[in-house]
Amino acid sequence: MPDSATRPPISQVKLYDGKLAWLLTKHRDCCEALASPALSADRRAPGYPEIHAGGHKAKEAIPTFVNMDDPDHAAQRAMLEDEFTPETVERKWRPVMEEVVDAVLDEFVAKGERAGDEPIDLVKEFAVHAPTRIIYRALGVPAADVVRLSRDSEIRNSTSRNAAETANLELQKYIGGLVKQKMQRPDSGDIISRLVTEQLKPGHLTEDQVTTLAFLVLTAGNAALINSISLGVLTLLQHPDQLADFKKRPEELAPQLVTEITRYHTASGLNSRRAVKQDIVIGGQLLKMGEGVICAVQAANRDGEKFADPDKFDIHRPGMRPEDTLGFGFGAHRCQAEFFSRTQLEIVFVKLFKRLPGLRLAKAETELVYSEPTMNVGVEEVPVYLA
Ligand code: HEM
Repeated sequence: MPDSATRPPISQVKLYDGKLAWLLTKHRDCCEALASPALSADRRAPGYPEIHAGGHKAKEAIPTFVNMDDPDHAAQRAMLEDEFTPETVERKWRPVMEEVVDAVLDEFVAKGERAGDEPIDLVKEFAVHAPTRIIYRALGVPAADVVRLSRDSEIRNSTSRNAAETANLELQKYIGGLVKQKMQRPDSGDIISRLVTEQLKPGHLTEDQVTTLAFLVLTAGNAALINSISLGVLTLLQHPDQLADFKKRPEELAPQLVTEITRYHTASGLNSRRAVKQDIVIGGQLLKMGEGVICAVQAANRDGEKFADPDKFDIHRPGMRPEDTLGFGFGAHRCQAEFFSRTQLEIVFVKLFKRLPGLRLAKAETELVYSEPTMNVGVEEVPVYLA
């Protein structure tokens, strides 16, 4: 197989199960594929490319709209849409995000003080907790359960697949129990109660479907957020000039910082996979019905035809718009929680560097360990000194 330097823009890759799939690496080809009704997001469609054994098991689970095509996809996506509009995020979720990030920062600073001259791990002591607690609050998980569940989340998002799968099962069981509780006593304001009241009670969804959807909300972007925080902080520390700019104008530069992190790192780089439902030519290549397609959005986000000097981390890219990055996908399945996630990341970076302007890396960059290549990009630990 050619290495990435000589690989043509569209080529076939061998998957872990020996099957072949098309790998699309150009920005324009990924956009065309992800916008095309000829491609299916249905995991059970012939040819859908799985990248590890767990994916084949997932075919037996109750599907959510992530793996449906329109019109079913659009109908189920609409059930959650109101929770993730910019208006709802600003009114309802921003105050929750700010409160949680402040609390997590207090704990992080306290840990740092207790550690004295020793470094502490930004991933385990900070990055995991902010998104996890925010999404628990959004789902309506009682405060008393949050700490225990956060531990599960830590394992679920770790780089060990077996431990992660066990923690996943535990969490799924917990969410099933929570749905039952909310069926008895729905609260107002949280996402599970809303699904129970608006979808389950009138008979649009079954109890199992509500559990699966709630679990989707919990897991869909948690690892991507944790990895975007960890890698984002690391990358800023590696680019002191840009960090200095950011510290001078944090609120103003936060949106473009987040856009550049989602382009440069692409924390959900393996999520945009499809099966060909109908023969289609993309980028001059015939993709035949029943074949698999992996939109390598991580590569597409470094496509030199789309982005000047693509391997450079640059929060000041001229003319860069949030929709230019494929970090949140493209087309009908583009991340439903994009605004929710961007807002959260902006709050995290602004608050972190305002509170800890002297934050610095405690280990040589070459000693850092990144996630295995068949998982979305992440870093195992980022040891830091807080001042
Ligand atoms: C930095 C954080 C995140 C990144 C980088 C990210 C990335 C993505 C990507 C690339 C897709 C498209 C997948 C495809 O093409 O099939 C996607 C879809 C989705 N994301 Fe996110 N995501 C993030 C956070 C979240 C969060 C926090 C949630 C939930 C609260 C979420 C919920 C979803 C859902 C429900 C979809 C499916 C949309 C659909 O199929 O219509 N994401 N995300």
